[in-house]
Amino acid sequence: MVKICCIGAGYVGGPTMAVIALKCPNVQVTVVDIAEPRINAWNSGTLPIYEPGLDDVVKQCRGKNLFFSTEVEKHVAESDIIFVSVNTPTKTQGLGAGKAADLTYWESAARMIADVSKSDKIVVEKSTVPVKTAEAIERILTHNKKGINFTILSNPEFLAEGTAIQDLFNPDRVLIGGRETPEGQKAINALRDVYANWVPKERILCTNLWSAELSKLAANAFLAQRISSVNAMSALCESTGADVSQVSHSIGTDSRVGPKFLNASVGFGGSCFQKDILNLVYICECNGLPEVANYWKQVVKVNDYQKSRFVNRVVSSMFNTVSSKKIAILGFAFKKDTGDTRETPAIDVCKGLLGDKARLSIFDPQVTEDQILKDLSMKKFDKDHPSHLQPASPTSIKQVSIVGDAYEATKDSHGICILTEWDEFKKLDYQKVFDSMQKPAFVFDGRNIVDADKLRKIGFIVYCIGKPLDPWLKDMPAVA
Ligand code: UDX
Ligand code: ADP
Repeated sequence: MVKICCIGAGYVGGPTMAVIALKCPNVQVTVVDIAEPRINAWNSGTLPIYEPGLDDVVKQCRGKNLFFSTEVEKHVAESDIIFVSVNTPTKTQGLGAGKAADLTYWESAARMIADVSKSDKIVVEKSTVPVKTAEAIERILTHNKKGINFTILSNPEFLAEGTAIQDLFNPDRVLIGGRETPEGQKAINALRDVYANWVPKERILCTNLWSAELSKLAANAFLAQRISSVNAMSALCESTGADVSQVSHSIGTDSRVGPKFLNASVGFGGSCFQKDILNLVYICECNGLPEVANYWKQVVKVNDYQKSRFVNRVVSSMFNTVSSKKIAILGFAFKKDTGDTRETPAIDVCKGLLGDKARLSIFDPQVTEDQILKDLSMKKFDKDHPSHLQPASPTSIKQVSIVGDAYEATKDSHGICILTEWDEFKKLDYQKVFDSMQKPAFVFDGRNIVDADKLRKIGFIVYCIGKPLDPWLKDMPAVA
């Protein structure tokens, strides 16, 4: 029986290993983590992450061929294949701060693998890492090798949160990069055999190590670039009277472009896009390619612009001040169907509104009060470091209250900002919401999910990203 161990029981390691266990009954999978509460949660009835379909997969295999443990060294020593799925946040200090990937967690995992191993291992990079990380890791591993062979592979993850299980069951492709040596090829084949249990062979792409590492950064950069492109268009649409949904649809029907990932929004979030682009920018700069670096940097800049443009729109629409006004924030997660808030645009929007002294009443169906308060009191980039690995932050934000449902959040409010596209926000009784609000009642839809015409008929003043402006907003006198 092949034994797999995955270091890091997070959003990537947990779901990926659960699906490998489900699809490969002959493989024993153990997910290890230094965070005891996280492992306890994986072993309990309430998993530490919210992901549709995940509970079911875990229930089917846990205790059979899927295990969660804090005995990191023991399981690493016993395994044939070790996935490393630890966090690789953006560096906050020192060389490359704000751009380069912080490989502290990766390096410590690699040193531990070298220390405890007594037999040959295949070590798989699962978390996104800078190009050429494999070479550095190889050096750490082989330096201490005691006659043991370590073969390193890059197998980047392309799952998206909220649809992780579907993405893992039916991936567009699985990418495996390895050295072009006999040992490298043998390791590639061993990992390919694992995935071949459920992924058609033609979808398993094998490349060299560097192509696999770079493909992950490039894939995320391309995806984020589409969103920044359509968001840039959304600003122009608002100025010209064009409708960004119609423009997106027209563009997307060109088979060379395709229809996906063209939804204008308040901005992209998530643990990957910004981090990976900044990392790409840093790599380009280090390789003497400033023009290429600046090209990709612009994708992040447009994303920041989109968030501040949204805040400006809210403030300017509400007579140029939101001071002491109650604003309901519907949705805090970076997208629907996840409780993850890493780099969520809601953080910047809320901070922007708080900067103008608004009072915020926040509701998200999956994000805890504790998490929201932590996010709003944390500095940029600190967020990406797991909370159990950093000191507790002082959290007393007086202007913020976190509430248990959308109706409570919107009651007596002057305006509503929809920041996550949760299905339940589409189905709210907006007449009831309107009746409980201060007038004029504003809705700022950062995800284009409401029926603006219907809401206008009720009496709301509605702003939608990239759509012709509400007549009320268009005619409003400009306040200097
Ligand atoms: C992303 C990649 O899609 C995935 O392949 C990679 O492995 C990890 O990073 P994820 O961050 O989980 O996945 O979610 P994704 O669906 O890509 O959404 C990222 C952000 O872009 C979200 O904030 C989402 O709301 C936003 N988005 C997405 C848009 O604003 N418009 C779109 O059209 C699509
Ligand atoms: P991702 O979204 O990439 O899965 P997460 O932050 O959700 O990232 O998960 C990474 C996990 O890796 C965390 O739970 C963290 O505790 C764990 N981790 C970090 N360093 C180590 C290590 N040296 N050994 C074991 N687990 C680690």
